[in-house]
Amino acid sequence: MNSGYHLPVMLDECMEWLAIGPSGRYVDCTLGGGGHSSAILGRLGPDGRLDSFDRDPDAIAAATARIGDDPRWTAHRLPFGEMASVLEPESADGVLMDLGISSHQVDEPSRGFSFRRSEKADLRMDQSAGEDAARWIARVGERELKDALVRNADLRPAARAARILFAAVERDGELRMESVLEAARSVARGRADDAAARILQALRIEVNDEIGQLRSGLEAARSLLRRGGRLVVMSYHSVEDRCVKQAMAEWAKDCVCPPGLPVCRCGGNRATAKVLTRRPVVPSEEEQRSNPRSRSAKLRACEKL
Ligand SMILES: C[S@@+](CC[C@H](N)C(=O)[O-])C[C@H]1O[C@@H](n2cnc3c(N)ncnc32)[C@H](O)[C@@H]1O
Repeated sequence: MNSGYHLPVMLDECMEWLAIGPSGRYVDCTLGGGGHSSAILGRLGPDGRLDSFDRDPDAIAAATARIGDDPRWTAHRLPFGEMASVLEPESADGVLMDLGISSHQVDEPSRGFSFRRSEKADLRMDQSAGEDAARWIARVGERELKDALVRNADLRPAARAARILFAAVERDGELRMESVLEAARSVARGRADDAAARILQALRIEVNDEIGQLRSGLEAARSLLRRGGRLVVMSYHSVEDRCVKQAMAEWAKDCVCPPGLPVCRCGGNRATAKVLTRRPVVPSEEEQRSNPRSRSAKLRACEKL
């Protein structure tokens, strides 16, 4: 069942950067189909522990069916931005984040993530809670919608696309994929598929508060790690990657004085982490060929000091 749910990306690289010890305690923030979680459990001995999180009930069900009853493993149906509320501070040897959405979410028509497979855009990772794409658009209005298209997907010019999407939601009371394609054609006539995918990405980021979740998740991860523990994050678009890169760089700074001060006044030695990946790690050519969805992945890792 589950190899079709989602093919895990850079599985060996993730295990290597996490440097898994058999008795360690690990956190998988993005369980999905359980590919990375299964691999972590496979490297743990009887004293090891793994806590896995996902906000999507489909993921919890699929991964539980795959992993089964394992006394070393707990699955939490919770957004990872809230994981510090159920785990002990400074208790983890490694935290993994494999951001974004799973193949199951994209491929399952009822989830409303793909203009190729669904008639209506829903775009919620957890369909039992929160606003779908149409409700979000109706609430924030055309101007915020336009800003989100630029901010999250670098869609330019975005004003016409925003107007088309907003009018369609007002008219239909829902966001139909044909309206997403119409908005996409208004931006890029030749490459409407690419523009449609970017519109959906921009909306998805807002509907699921993905950047807010990422910021809280990164802070939670830092507080959960013990000294020497590692954080490994895989992101799939530039907005996420920038956020990860900036957070890790900030944690690795010794001095937090404003630039230009001739002498350090903050006392230095403030770094709480060391960046392990000077450049992001990307999938091998072979993996990119065999799993095209891995193509945009970028892995960054740091170690808590
Ligand atoms: C790329 S998939 C993970 C795939 C997984 N590593 C595997 O091997 O199957 C991302 C998963 O993270 C979940 N997710 C994304 N953002 C989340 C958040 N803020 N909190 C909890 N789960 C989240 C999605 O629902 C999705 O199932």
